[in-house]
Amino acid sequence: MSGRLAGKVAVVTGGARGIGRAVVQAFATEGASVHAIDRFADEVEAVAAACRKAGGTVRAHALDLRDADAVAAGFAAIESAAGRVDVLVNNAGVIFFKPLETTTTEDWDTLISINLRGPFLCARAVAAGMKARRAGAIINVSSNAGVRGGMDETAYCASKFGIEGFSRALAIEMAPYNVSVNTITPGHPVHTAMSETTYGAAQRLIWKDPAEIAPAFVHLALQDASGLNDRYVRAWDLVQDLAAGRAA
Ligand SMILES: NC(=O)c1ccc[n+]([C@@H]2O[C@H](COP(=O)([O-])OP(=O)(O)OC[C@H]3O[C@@H](n4cnc5c(N)ncnc54)[C@H](O)[C@@H]3O)[C@@H](O)[C@H]2O)c1
Repeated sequence: MSGRLAGKVAVVTGGARGIGRAVVQAFATEGASVHAIDRFADEVEAVAAACRKAGGTVRAHALDLRDADAVAAGFAAIESAAGRVDVLVNNAGVIFFKPLETTTTEDWDTLISINLRGPFLCARAVAAGMKARRAGAIINVSSNAGVRGGMDETAYCASKFGIEGFSRALAIEMAPYNVSVNTITPGHPVHTAMSETTYGAAQRLIWKDPAEIAPAFVHLALQDASGLNDRYVRAWDLVQDLAAGRAA
């Protein structure tokens, strides 16, 4: 434990697997009190239990981000138990690849509901408290697909371009209250449940454990509006910069 996040209350969505699980573990190792949200109750509880066994403070919340009432109730319970949320990581996400003509309305609505509406619901739940305390950090997980198009990815790209626009506007809204808002993309192939279904052979040869990009999330969690803010961050590059002492 190095304790850089000691005293901070953090919420991480999609904490059962992949990047979210690595961020939960890294935040716990840095001393944060972490609330890990996921739709998979047993898996997110197992992540939380392993972190607690290692000395961390992690609580699991089984919650489907498509359910607006459940999101509101979940954040109300966290705020009432923990007193506040200092850091929000909107990480949960899904992907599918389909040409537009076979993308059903349900496909579209489901993906947008998780990848774009979910972050809106979670950010809205913490915004008033962060503004009132004039402190906080919101980290929204984006993608290369948030800045350029990809084949058969109209819904996923729309959600990730959407998270970019949402974040740029939210950064302007939160800056007067000293709250940082950034987007982050892995910036290097990472091995997760999602990338098991999306990566080709070349990426599989070089993919990294998501734990290797988690220090970038820790760095963003420490930022206020006067620091690294309103940026699209490539996690892999930031981790290299941090290791070389180049990051601000
Ligand atoms: N893996 C990559 O290469 C990659 C690249 C760029 C961006 N991303 C983004 O990173 C984020 C995490 O991806 P990952 O690769 O770790 O994926 P993953 O599939 O390994 O993990 C995603 C987690 O989100 C949870 N989740 C999904 N829908 C949910 C819902 N409705 N309610 C609650 N939880 C839900 C899942 O249960 C899972 O635990 C996503 O936003 C993804 O778009 C991933």
